[in-house]
Amino acid sequence: MAPALLTAAHQQHHNIAQQLHHHNYCYHTLDQPEISDAEYDQLLQKLLSIEEQFPELATPDSPSQRVGSQPLDGFSPAAHAKPMLSLENAFDAEDLRDFDSRIKRFLSRVENLEYLCEPKLDGVAVALTYQRGKLIRGATRGDGTTGEDITQNVRTIGAIPLQLQGDYPQQLEVRGEIYMELEAFQVLNKQRREEGEATFANPRNLTAGSLRQLDSKLTAARPLTISCYGIGISSDRTLKTHKETLESLQRWGLKVNSDMNQEASNIDRVIARYIELQELRERLPYEIDGMVVKVNDCNLQQELGEKSRTPRWAIAAKFPARQEQTLLESVQLQVGRTGAITPVAKLKPINVSGVMVSSASLHNWDEISRLDIHIGDTVIIERAGDVIPNIVRVVTDNRSGKEKSIPEPKHCPICHSPVHREEGEVIPRCQGVNCPAKLKESLKHFCSRGAMDIEGLGDRLIDQLLRLELVSSLADIYHLTREDLFQFDRMGDKLADNLLQAISASKQRPLENFIFALGIRHIGKHLAKVLSHQFSSLESLSHARSEQLLALHEIGPQVSESLIRFFSDTNNQALLEDLLKEGVNPKSDEQVVGDQLQGQVFVFTGSLEQFSRKEGETLVEAQGGRASGSVSKKTDYVVAGPGAGSKLAKAEQLGVTVLSENDFLKMIYSEQ
Ligand code: IVH
Repeated sequence: MAPALLTAAHQQHHNIAQQLHHHNYCYHTLDQPEISDAEYDQLLQKLLSIEEQFPELATPDSPSQRVGSQPLDGFSPAAHAKPMLSLENAFDAEDLRDFDSRIKRFLSRVENLEYLCEPKLDGVAVALTYQRGKLIRGATRGDGTTGEDITQNVRTIGAIPLQLQGDYPQQLEVRGEIYMELEAFQVLNKQRREEGEATFANPRNLTAGSLRQLDSKLTAARPLTISCYGIGISSDRTLKTHKETLESLQRWGLKVNSDMNQEASNIDRVIARYIELQELRERLPYEIDGMVVKVNDCNLQQELGEKSRTPRWAIAAKFPARQEQTLLESVQLQVGRTGAITPVAKLKPINVSGVMVSSASLHNWDEISRLDIHIGDTVIIERAGDVIPNIVRVVTDNRSGKEKSIPEPKHCPICHSPVHREEGEVIPRCQGVNCPAKLKESLKHFCSRGAMDIEGLGDRLIDQLLRLELVSSLADIYHLTREDLFQFDRMGDKLADNLLQAISASKQRPLENFIFALGIRHIGKHLAKVLSHQFSSLESLSHARSEQLLALHEIGPQVSESLIRFFSDTNNQALLEDLLKEGVNPKSDEQVVGDQLQGQVFVFTGSLEQFSRKEGETLVEAQGGRASGSVSKKTDYVVAGPGAGSKLAKAEQLGVTVLSENDFLKMIYSEQ
């Protein structure tokens, strides 16, 4: 490679990387994006393609690291240079006053003490090490002395800068809490519930589980964030107060919960804030389990020091857990769209911090045996981030001996078909092809927003459709007549017209909506979109071979198998045929000319002379093929221009067909 080209590429890489760092900071830390997601994606793609050409540019601080890297075999231990302490707890105002008096006694000459009050986020503690401003390590707390090295996973979290800004110290170890916002948690749990996957009890468990992934691409897919609350080690020791510390962290580009942290000039103010925060708790977008109170003056902190594993200068003022005790009256088995059977605890209604609760999630039968829970048991339930509360434990002292066990069902509670639990899965599934419960959930999903979006056809009408036996498959929706609709309760002319109009309009939904609406296992909105971009029609998707599917980087064996299983099922084939016959005509957004290159993967390399790389890629995509940046076993063709280097060599080594620019153009034009 000519040195000039190399420098130009380095320069371009540097520019794009800086832009990405900036936009990442605006989006994740400031919550003020300056460009759209699509524009960000475009920049990232550009960066990735430069790094494919110049792999030495893919350094640990490159924004490319945010998407995840090679899976690990295990986590290495990470020793903490300074122990990660824990906090002593206070449970009420009196405990807080004791804390204040203890400190004053210890410091004797101090009359009044200024504190800083911070929400105690309920997540996972981390230590982030920055050397000369670059993130070099992320570690969990572990036993306080040694944690686990989770650097790869931490790099995928958008709110954690890979490079600090401004006047940062050369050596810095930041401490903070990684957590997930409630909304993201609820969306993820809902998705998992619908897919029949095991749900998480609370955002903390989900955060911990996400950080424990050996494959950082999985962590990258979880919307985690951070709040930084302190410094472990720093080469700069000029900071005088904890408030200054937090302000500095923020100046260096780290995320700090600045809106919620508050100074308090004495312990009365601390207590007032404790009460106030307890009320605010219900409205915050994340879970907090208390308030951390810290002595603001750094010299005083130093003087106070620590005893065993907790500092004398800070305390965690805990909030009461949102727990109550009630009776488990029965267990209802719910059958989802995929046939997943989930046990739901029906409870004697009880008020848990202002919310009436009458059911709780039991998750699955592994959880039932872990809790050793029986019908008739007194249970402790907790509201912890999810819409549906959890059962924390059984109060075994209250047992009378008459409690009944909760056996895993052998038959579907609705259609009585056999139930099967696959190896490695936690949830049994109904195997009945015509299970009405599955049909009901499938209909709800099919009509919902983001799917076929049939306005007016909600849960209530779907229940009636099934009760009146007007539908027995998804396609039957399109057979409905005005007369049929008039059998419904409270149906008028206008409503019937609107409904028929909405049903008819849904026939023209984009392909991605249709793919999503089919409710294929593991195919959520995102994958439906990926598939619709890749496959120009339902027809070509239904014939996709596993090699073609696996060639897409978002798709792994589980998803590919699920798609193939769905499309090879004769019932599903009949359903699709019916839907198409009824005039359902999903369209791909992409301008696709043909599908001669369907599923074929092309890599362009070298300095192309007859067309730009982008043009080549567009040509491939217009014929249903896909352009990739790197050569692998999944590559079908490498198109090599002059000066092609390592990718050409790799193609030859793997036996991938190499085309000249002319060969490629001939191929494209003869195929049209
Ligand atoms: S200060 C020596 N501040 O609570 C100071 N901790 O046992 C130690 N936590 O798991 C921690 N929010 O990760 C501090 N604003 C905050 C916090 C906070 C949450 C967590 C921390 C640790 C536990 C303390």
